[in-house]
Amino acid sequence: MYDKGKIVPGLIIFVGLMLFAIFNNAGQKPQPPKLEKPEGYKECVLPVEEMKQSHMVLLNEWRDEVIREGKREQVKVGGKMFDKSLQRGCMHCHTSKKKFCDVCHEFASVYPYCWDCHIAPQRDMADQEAK
Ligand code: HEC
Ligand code: HEC
Ligand code: HEC
Repeated sequence: MYDKGKIVPGLIIFVGLMLFAIFNNAGQKPQPPKLEKPEGYKECVLPVEEMKQSHMVLLNEWRDEVIREGKREQVKVGGKMFDKSLQRGCMHCHTSKKKFCDVCHEFASVYPYCWDCHIAPQRDMADQEAK
């Protein structure tokens, strides 16, 4: 009835192929997008891990402080002072929205509506025109 001579090697080959498939894929996580880091600056307003996780919270805090509470005093980053501002703060160092914010947001499928009103850095426009 059973053809041991075929079933056993067949099983071994099958298990072997499965294991190969599993281990072959194990090391391949989805690659995070490549971001353009600001030139000439070493630090962000908060430690990088915090920025990755909660820059949107910080932006809301800044907006509330500036607009609702009138607290416009600047923040210190690496010994220099910066405005608590999307355009004059974040985008002063992150000079391209396209090559920084957008790359990551597209990867994560989030589309902040801030730019309906706030002006994106001029560099993106210049880059586009230069093409
Ligand atoms: C003084 C210049 C400067 C300002 C102002 C600044 N950043 Fe940064 N930011 C940096 C630098 C430099 C890094 C990279 C740090 C590193 O990789 O160690 C960074 C990293 C980040 C990261 C993490 C990127 C990654 O590696 O995944 C995010 C997100 C970010 N910034 C968003 C913002 C936002 C939003 C604002 C405004 C609230 C802002 N930054 C303001 C200089 C700045
Ligand atoms: C390291 C990747 C990364 C970078 C770089 C990054 N973001 Fe984000 N951002 C995210 C993710 C992920 C979310 C969604 C988080 C969530 O929904 O909890 C987000 C959400 C936001 C939100 C809230 C949007 C909403 O609809 O809730 C704002 C505002 C924002 N980002 C602004 C910026 C700005 C401005 C920059 C560039 C200076 C930037 N981000 C760069 C990953 C990034
Ligand atoms: C409907 C238009 C509109 C939208 C959309 C909008 N803003 Fe604003 N935002 C304003 C105006 C107007 C001011 C006031 C500018 C001032 O007085 O300096 C402001 C001020 C701010 C400030 C403080 C000062 C500055 O110059 O940046 C921050 C931070 C800010 N907005 C962040 C955000 C973020 C983050 C988003 C997206 C989640 C967003 N805004 C979406 C209109 C808008």
